[in-house]
Amino acid sequence: MGIIFHEEEKQFHLYNDYISYVIGICPDGEVGHLYYGKRIHEKQIVKAYQTRGVRALCCNRKEDENYTKEMAQLEYPAFGNGDFRTPAYEILQENGSRVTNLVYAGHRIYAGKKGIPGLPASYVEKDSDATTLEIVCEDAVAGIRVTLFYTIWEQRPVVCRHARLENMGEEMLDVRRALSLCLDLPDAEYTWMQFQGAWARERYPMERDLSAGITEIESMRGHSSANVNPFVIIKRKDTNEVQGEAMGFHLVYSGNFVARAQADTYGKLRFVMGLNPQWFSWKLSSGEVFDTPEAILSYSAKGLNDLSQSIHGFLNDHMVRSPYKNKPRPILLNNWEATEMNFDEEKILNIAKKGKEAGVELFVLDDGWFGARNDDYAGLGDWFVNANKLPNGIYGLSKKINDMGLQFGIWIEPEMVNEDSELYRAHPDWVLGAPNRPRTLGRHQMVLDYSKPEVVDCIYKQLYDVISNASIHYIKWDMNRSITECYSLGGAPEEQGKVYHKYILGVYSLYERLMKAFPEILFESCASGGARFDAGMLYYAPQAWCSDDTDGHERVKIQYGTSYGYPIASIGAHVSAAPNQQTGRFVTIDDRANIACFGTFGYELDLNEISDEEFARVQQQIRFMKEYREVFQYGKLYRLQSPFTKDTAAWMVVSKDREVALLGLYRGCKTPNVGIDLVRMQGLDPEASYTVNGSGDFYGDYLMEHGIPTIDTEGDWFHGNEDFSTELFVIHKQ
Ligand code: GLA
Repeated sequence: MGIIFHEEEKQFHLYNDYISYVIGICPDGEVGHLYYGKRIHEKQIVKAYQTRGVRALCCNRKEDENYTKEMAQLEYPAFGNGDFRTPAYEILQENGSRVTNLVYAGHRIYAGKKGIPGLPASYVEKDSDATTLEIVCEDAVAGIRVTLFYTIWEQRPVVCRHARLENMGEEMLDVRRALSLCLDLPDAEYTWMQFQGAWARERYPMERDLSAGITEIESMRGHSSANVNPFVIIKRKDTNEVQGEAMGFHLVYSGNFVARAQADTYGKLRFVMGLNPQWFSWKLSSGEVFDTPEAILSYSAKGLNDLSQSIHGFLNDHMVRSPYKNKPRPILLNNWEATEMNFDEEKILNIAKKGKEAGVELFVLDDGWFGARNDDYAGLGDWFVNANKLPNGIYGLSKKINDMGLQFGIWIEPEMVNEDSELYRAHPDWVLGAPNRPRTLGRHQMVLDYSKPEVVDCIYKQLYDVISNASIHYIKWDMNRSITECYSLGGAPEEQGKVYHKYILGVYSLYERLMKAFPEILFESCASGGARFDAGMLYYAPQAWCSDDTDGHERVKIQYGTSYGYPIASIGAHVSAAPNQQTGRFVTIDDRANIACFGTFGYELDLNEISDEEFARVQQQIRFMKEYREVFQYGKLYRLQSPFTKDTAAWMVVSKDREVALLGLYRGCKTPNVGIDLVRMQGLDPEASYTVNGSGDFYGDYLMEHGIPTIDTEGDWFHGNEDFSTELFVIHKQ
């Protein structure tokens, strides 16, 4: 791994065993893009760099009428001087001009990687984990300095990028656009994959070919959103799970974003990603700097599954910061679907007690324990215990739960406030909202103005009091509505373009302070289910509630889609009651557990209310999960059959030493009288012999090349006859 600078040709070659990323300084001083893809020899000088067109309709040099930026591949392009594609940045100057021209002014190469102030970012554990290149570019007329940061990782097909903009002049600069990444590719023969949905059906994969024109996704909801995730794959048209070239792009950010691919009429592709420029305006006075969020570029020449495995390892090792980093996650019981807000201490203790009997390790008290919170209309903002429900306080309850031998956790939604709350009555101007206009509500709640440090301070103090006076091991941090009327009351008019971004910086700062004060706490992020499931959140909360949809059948699709960009250990997954609250569908308790075990695993129902037979199954499931969770959560994931293309879905995880594998098989609606279907495993040792569910004698190559049938040879289901039945195969090396 390393970064070589070919001085004479002015080319930087970032490389490791998997990838090369080559950057060149153009004849006119711009930073050009030369190559990104599978590793090529680091001594190779890249020759083809197009700066000339035929009959160019605008020309960047007097002495050469065909010299043009129109077709150039650029690392951080501007609009307005001959490149007509989507720019990476835009800066409005005091004289009204938006024209800029950044030219190379120097560079630095060093071992390791720096953090980004105030923002989540991948990190090194030791300097030998990565090498960083900083390229400094300047525009002397406008007084702008932009530093482009590139980090290449040891033994990972990953490059991380971000940009720092600095005002080095005297006049005010108004940054209207500052994206994290621009990647100009020499051809556009790719397919775009996005992960989209809505509440209760998050992150379904969706594909389309990038033949011509613009393909774009964005969030303007103030959070990354369930509707479309800040993770995109661009792959060759014949790439599938097991072969072909694929590139992943994560934005390490939890607010408004944009990702756009522009296939131009010369057949080239520009891909950009970053903060959404809509409603964005960041004034930089002399000497001030602005850092963009980080973008993670991942690559595979061996298909989507290999790409996901690299991403999982990278996020687990270099994004998650937590005492639970790479550690098995506690099996929890959450009371939300059991009681909603209608509980008292006795009811909670009853549920927890049964959980303990079942074998769970952590009890989580969800919404409804604070303020006057008896329904959606009141209480948010008042983070002190509701003594009518919990007369012994959070301290008293947590102690009783700890005494049972369980850890204890609570739910919070610290970014929100109800009109009916002490906080709102005392500080009506602490809420986002446009002057003299009504606010749009969401779940009867308003959004606190986290761009104001005093708001974040007040919430921090309230939470500090609760947490420091009880024994709390876990926090579920929810965010149950999108942001509207994004205006900071009392703020200067020219500062309003900062509010969306400052809001997220406020959220990150509260996370950071709580993590510092309570380093042992396990955070789980949540936003009406999985509406803020992004790489930025993983920096603070190593797991995220994946979806409010816990239906056994629907969850297969949601978790399968999520696995493209996020590790299994980050996927919050629970067994809830049946019929399911969201779909009304009945799926058996074993079938519900067979999908939840490919995640953090837990329960979200009152175990007192299930039959003795089902309870015995729950005890068995927990014993099983405790034995295998390390493999479920940190084994290599192989997606075998997609629920989006086949009626029967399958995936498996394999331990690093290939001794143990677990395969989940998920059927849809029963189709009668079908032929044998085989699911072929992956990742096993071909020479070794394995047992499947404790019996048999199968070579790894047989299981991988021939496979096992998904129905029995008499043409019936393996077990039962019902729709949505599942199977879990435990595979052991002999
Ligand atoms: C959101 C979450 C749920 C639950 C409720 C509580 O919908 O996704 O899991 O915590 O809020 O109000």
